[in-house]
Amino acid sequence: MNFMVVVDQNYGIGKNNKLLTHLTDDLKYFRQTTLGKVVVMGRRTLESLPGGKAFDNRVNIVMTRDLSFNHEGAIIVHSLEDLFSTLAAYPSDDVFIVGGGQIYNMLYPYCRYGYITKIHEDLTADTKIDVIDELPNWELVWQSEEKENNGHTFVWTRYENMMVKAY
Ligand SMILES: NC(=O)c1ccc[n+]([C@@H]2O[C@H](COP(=O)([O-])OP(=O)(O)OC[C@H]3O[C@@H](n4cnc5c(N)ncnc54)[C@H](OP(=O)(O)O)[C@@H]3O)[C@@H](O)[C@H]2O)c1
Repeated sequence: MNFMVVVDQNYGIGKNNKLLTHLTDDLKYFRQTTLGKVVVMGRRTLESLPGGKAFDNRVNIVMTRDLSFNHEGAIIVHSLEDLFSTLAAYPSDDVFIVGGGQIYNMLYPYCRYGYITKIHEDLTADTKIDVIDELPNWELVWQSEEKENNGHTFVWTRYENMMVKAY
């Protein structure tokens, strides 16, 4: 599996259950990369999406401990074990962890690649993820040229986990 995230310079990812900012080009990149694939998210991230709607043309898997939770267009799972048995039906390369903080931090050890969009600013987040650059098993394998969009400068990067945890 893989993860895809947008971070600020402190690995902040969100505030008040919203994204820190919107980068039109990055949203297109996210869509292109995940279309037709499997996206895994926490219940709070699902609720943060426009209209609270699941992503179109993707298999949406949502994690919650609430056994009564249901959502149109989403497969609901209630634990890590439940998630892994659901994911057994899909090729691992096709699975993208898409947030938020709790879900990234729990699942990145199982990911092969991390697609990290890095915005070069402090956007005062209340939700952060672990600093991938500081983890011993992760290596930067690709970085785009510097980009500018919606008043922000950023780069796209891809990190590879050299010790992927089996699931
Ligand atoms: N920058 C980015 O790329 C990006 C991407 C996505 C999201 N975000 C941001 O991240 C923030 C949300 O992140 P968050 O950490 O607050 O929430 P989250 O990770 O989206 O969802 C957390 C919820 O997932 C469920 N959950 C967590 N661990 C579980 C487990 N082991 N088994 C079953 N369910 C589990 C729980 O749902 P219940 O409470 O229902 O039990 C928990 O409250 C928002 O600000 C959002 O905009 C940023």
